[in-house]
Amino acid sequence: AYPTQVKIVEVGARDGLQNESKVTTEQKITLLNGLSEAGVIHLEAGAFVSPKWVPQMADSAEVIKGLSVNQNAQLSALTPNLKGAEAALECGIKEFAIFTAASEAFTQKNINCSIEESIERFKPVVELAQQHNVKVRGYVSCVVGCPYQGDVQPEAVLDVCKQLLALGCYEISLGDTIGVGTPSKVKKLLDLLTKELPLDKLAVHFHDTYGQAIANIHTALEMGISTIDSAVAGLGGCPYAQGASGNVATEDVIYLLEGLGISTQIDLERLAKAGWAICDALNKPPASKVSLALRAK
Ligand code: HMG
Ligand code: MG
Repeated sequence: AYPTQVKIVEVGARDGLQNESKVTTEQKITLLNGLSEAGVIHLEAGAFVSPKWVPQMADSAEVIKGLSVNQNAQLSALTPNLKGAEAALECGIKEFAIFTAASEAFTQKNINCSIEESIERFKPVVELAQQHNVKVRGYVSCVVGCPYQGDVQPEAVLDVCKQLLALGCYEISLGDTIGVGTPSKVKKLLDLLTKELPLDKLAVHFHDTYGQAIANIHTALEMGISTIDSAVAGLGGCPYAQGASGNVATEDVIYLLEGLGISTQIDLERLAKAGWAICDALNKPPASKVSLALRAK
C-alpha cells in the first residue's frame, strides 16, 4: 500500500548546484528562500566539503547564514569529516549528512578513502552530532550501479546500510547516483533491504539519467517507502559520476504524489517558480516535464 504521507528532501541547492560553476551566493539564497516559501520543509542547503574537490560548494556557510527561510524549515548539509561537521555546526545546522557508497571505486573517487575508512571517519562526526543534538543522515551512493565498477549487488548495499545505522544515522538515503535503476532492479534491492531494515529508516534518491526515476519512485512507494529526495527543476549531476544527469525533479514527484492522493503540503505552482528563477540564472530550461507544462500555460 502507498504511504499516506511522504517526506520530500529537497536537494536542489546542494546536489543540484554542486556541478554548476556560475551560480552566485545570492542566487542560492533566493532559491532556498523560494523553496521554503513554496512549503518545502527539508532543505539540503550546502556541503562542507573540501573547496579543492568541489569549489561550487565553497560558499555554503555564507548561503546558510544569509537565509530567511520559514521557521519550520529544517536545513541539512553534507559533512564528510570532522572539519566539515564543525563548520556546519558553526552555521547552526541541525542535520548532518554523511556519505559513502556501496562501491569501493566510487568511494575512492568521491571521498578519497575506502568504504571502511569512510565509516571510521564518520565516527567523530556522529559523536559531535550527538553532543549537539544534531541528527545524522547517511547516504549510500551507487546502490544499483557504479560508473567505475558496473553492477552493484543488493547485498553490498545492505552491508553499508547496516554499518551506517549502527553508527547512529536516523535515516539512510539510497542513491542511484548514475540513474541506471529500473523498477525491477529497485524492487529487488528494496525487497532485501525492507526485509532486514526498518522501512521508516529508508529514503530513495534517484537520478533521472535514463528517464526511469519516476517509475522507480512509484515502485518504492508501492513498497512503503515514504521519504523521497528530489531537486527542483531536476537540477544536478555528480562531479564524480561523468554523464550522470540531474536528480528526479521535485515538481514531477509532487505531481505524481498528488495524482496518488498523497499530500505533501508543497505548493506546486510556487515550487515551479523557484525552479524557473534558478534555471534562468543557469540559462537552461528546467529538466522537468511538469515545470515545462506549467510554464507553457
Ligand atoms: P582529502 O584530500 O583526502 O582530505 O579529501 P584531506 O583531509 O587530506 O584534506 C585536503 C584539503 O582539503 C586540506 O586543505 C583540508 O584542510 C581541506 P589543505 O591543507 O591542502 O589546504 N579539507 C576541507 N576543507 C573544507 N571542508 C572540509 C574539508 N576537509 C578537508 N570538510 C574529502 C577528503 C572528503 C575532504 C574530499 O574528498 C571531499 O571534500 N570530497 C567531497 C566530494 C563531494 O562533495 N562529492 C559530491 C557529493 S556526494 C554526491 O553527490 C552523491 C549523493 O548525492 C548521493 C547520490 O546521488 O548517490 C550524496
Ligand atoms: Mg545525488
